[in-house]
Amino acid sequence: MARLNSNYLKLKAGYLFPEINRRVKAFTDSNPDGAARLIRCGIGDVTEPLPDSVRKAMHAAVDEMGVRESFKGYGPEQGYEFLRQAIAENDYRARGIDIANDEIFVSDGSKCDCGNILDIFGHDNRVAVMDPVYPVYVDTNVMAGHTGEGDASGLYGGLVYLACTAENGFVPSVPQEKVDLVYLCYPNNPTGATATRAQLTAWVEYALANDAVVLFDAAYEAYIRDPEIPHSIYEIPGARKCAIEFRSFSKNGGFTGVRCAFTVVPKDLECSTGSGDRRPLHPLWNRRFSTKFNGVGYVTQRAAEALYSGEGRAQVSALIRHYMGNAEILVAAAKDCGLATFGGTNAPYIWVRGPEGLTSWEIFDTVLNKANVVVTPGSGFGPAGEGYFRISSFNSRKNVEEVAARLRALEW
Ligand code: MLT
Repeated sequence: MARLNSNYLKLKAGYLFPEINRRVKAFTDSNPDGAARLIRCGIGDVTEPLPDSVRKAMHAAVDEMGVRESFKGYGPEQGYEFLRQAIAENDYRARGIDIANDEIFVSDGSKCDCGNILDIFGHDNRVAVMDPVYPVYVDTNVMAGHTGEGDASGLYGGLVYLACTAENGFVPSVPQEKVDLVYLCYPNNPTGATATRAQLTAWVEYALANDAVVLFDAAYEAYIRDPEIPHSIYEIPGARKCAIEFRSFSKNGGFTGVRCAFTVVPKDLECSTGSGDRRPLHPLWNRRFSTKFNGVGYVTQRAAEALYSGEGRAQVSALIRHYMGNAEILVAAAKDCGLATFGGTNAPYIWVRGPEGLTSWEIFDTVLNKANVVVTPGSGFGPAGEGYFRISSFNSRKNVEEVAARLRALEW
């Protein structure tokens, strides 16, 4: 009989968002009035329409595809040169960061890349994740067989958990022990925290000293408003030798439904082979990409390129201003409830400490049943999230104002 991958059987109750959807469906099926009033501030999914510059670029690209002379079949798996150039120039070189066009790999999402990147690492690495954590980092390591069983609190044997608490500002210190791979996400999902230059420098120095690789998820970089906060791990000297960076157009250009992202693998990043010699990772990721992926569609890549035009940049800024305006309203409402809030100033997520004595899922159920608002339970991101909940500011202004009013009126 064919064997399944038994690592999947170790996974806990399903990915967080499907579990939330299941509970919301149970609520709406049994409560038509609540269903009509329901407002979703759970999953961080954008709500505002695609920028005009993007739509124009997509229309033009579709027209090109309709003409024999400009029709495109398979493109380069790693991305068209026009987009790799726009990314490398605008996101990196314009900021004084040394990244070459061919160190950029255009993909259909950071979630996919964060999981797929494990293909080029061995199975015997010691892996560190933050707690609370974006569940994809953990679950993909479970699937790849890099962990033991999960315990009742959702922690998996074999992983090193870096506690992110209000006390450390949700930025973990480097561990005393040696790890080989460490996932960092800043601005952070779910806590909305950011890491300072000094904190990222400590991590880069740790990685260089320990021959570790930092997997740096910067999907929310566009939300940074404080000029002191680094936008890229490569702003830190030495990071080219020890870090891979994931970026996405989902949350800046509103591409969650369009699908386009990219990963940066510098050519001077090396890892050890089984026999101990050092080899660059870039050719491995290139090989993985061209073997398992056929590239992002031409129309989508032209859409992403448009985000770097003058018009595109202005429209992205307007989107960010909109969502951050929402965040301000939600932070104020949570504070008015007497709750401690974190994030929401350089990130689209607000991390809220719930009323004393309530678990995260109890908070989730209370807010759903009494306010008819969907939030995300903090414990769904790991045990250190227990007692917290996350509010996403991805919504219309009207909905956010309504959510703020309902939160203020909520009797816990
Ligand atoms: C979230 O809500 O945490 C994000 O939408 C997840 C994602 O971007 O995949």
